[in-house]
Amino acid sequence: MSDLLKQTEEITKIILEAKKKAQIETKEDKSKDFVSNNTDIEWPINCVVGPGLEGAIACTSKIGYVNGAKGWLIYRGYDIFDLCAYSTFEEVSYLLIHGKLPTKDELDIFNKKLINYRDINYTIKLLMGLNVEEMNTMAVLRIGTNFIRHDSTFIDSKYYKPDFNSHISSDEDSIPMETKPMGEKEAIYEFKKADYQEKSKIMEKELVDPIGYKSSYRLLSGVASVAGAVARLRQGKLPIEPNPELSFAANLIYMTTGKIPTPVEERIMDVSLILHADHGMNASTFATMVVASTLSDMYFAVGSGIAALNGPLHGGANAEVLKMLKEIGDIDNVEQWYEKKQQNKEKVMGFGHRVYKAYDPRARVLGPLAEYLIQNSDNKESKKIFKIAQKLEEQVIAHLGKEKKIFPNVDFYSGIVYSCLNIPVELFTPFFAVSRVSGWTARVIEYVQRNRIFRPRALYIGEFDKEYVPIDKR
Ligand code: SDX
Repeated sequence: MSDLLKQTEEITKIILEAKKKAQIETKEDKSKDFVSNNTDIEWPINCVVGPGLEGAIACTSKIGYVNGAKGWLIYRGYDIFDLCAYSTFEEVSYLLIHGKLPTKDELDIFNKKLINYRDINYTIKLLMGLNVEEMNTMAVLRIGTNFIRHDSTFIDSKYYKPDFNSHISSDEDSIPMETKPMGEKEAIYEFKKADYQEKSKIMEKELVDPIGYKSSYRLLSGVASVAGAVARLRQGKLPIEPNPELSFAANLIYMTTGKIPTPVEERIMDVSLILHADHGMNASTFATMVVASTLSDMYFAVGSGIAALNGPLHGGANAEVLKMLKEIGDIDNVEQWYEKKQQNKEKVMGFGHRVYKAYDPRARVLGPLAEYLIQNSDNKESKKIFKIAQKLEEQVIAHLGKEKKIFPNVDFYSGIVYSCLNIPVELFTPFFAVSRVSGWTARVIEYVQRNRIFRPRALYIGEFDKEYVPIDKR
């Protein structure tokens, strides 16, 4: 067991207690919906589809399984509680992407690549030219994926290589220069010819497979470095160089806060990254796969996943939960606040789920971890927030648990954990995206093996045979 796991055995104990509680509350009934023993499905298949594609089966997958009735989450056959207790985010990313737990050598090679891909100076330099402090952090994350795309592949130059004889080159080597000293009647500007021929030879060789493992690794590390840089730039500070000595989770906290986390903080961040890594065909994963199914590329696909995850009904809920708890302000206000929410038929952020009709196993882990952090902190505000959260959970479950099967989801406690780790609230959803890059890219790589462009139908309820009326007769 790694030193980190040893030093933080109490965290492992908390996770295994959550696992035991889950097993008691969700009887070990073998019936599993949306599962098939036959790995070679004969399409077309029957499924009952509701609005928002509820219940629709879009593909087969071996990557992850969510049992909504039981509240189970499985990655490549491993129970999420076991992965949180014994694994690391790097190992789980390898598992999701490659389909098996790595050997020590495989993990070392994978880690070295991830550490190497943390350095995205070209991207960081360009991001520093934006008003990041005025931008939605997920918007910056998306822009970052496009800069990483340009910097780590030569897709565009292969297809859109400028022809220098036709116009002035505008790449980074050419700068406006005067060929005559200032003051002349007219200065003659001449762009220095970039030595493109040389560069393009490297490009051809280096053309990176834009939808395979390399792009997945580059994005896994690159999106994390962008998130760290965004946090610093929003505080008006310079981005921090990634630290190759630190684990993925520790480096993410370090690049975001400027502080190297304690072993406990590192371990809890690592567990949170594992919990957020994959979750079946959720909206952002589906968006990522739809873009990849057109044979666009991994960078554009992950950019669309980031866009979908941003929504408050999806990954954006974690930040909304913290704002909501602060808005309630005091444990004595919970009842009245909730009653008002109900009267206005408004949804409570961090509760409910399209698939889970039981307690979200991820919340089963994040809740006790939040409690552990709170117990070991002297931050009065966090203690108050946590008490409000517990009271609200009690209230909502009492009212909606039995009747509508509405329970806390992954977003209800994740924000409290992140705020205990001094992560700014605008980074909560980007942190969700950082982790989900592993699930998104794993599912893209799996799907494009037997690709078919996604193209559902709409049920047409419009009119037919209308006669065209010229505008002056309307
Ligand atoms: C994530 O899909 C995934 O796996 C997503 C995710 C992942 O890992 O990728 O798990 C991450 O997105 C978690 C969800 C984060 N979102 C929130 O916490 C926002 C609040 N939750 C809701 O908006 C809602 O529960 C959804 C969007 C999550 C699910 O919505 P559905 O399946 O479309 O359910 P619905 O809106 O049709 O609601 C069904 C009923 C309604 O009541 P009736 O109209 O039938 O009387 O349940 C009620 C809803 O009003 N309801 C809620 C509620 N969520 C549903 N009532 C109060 N509070 C809520 N949060």
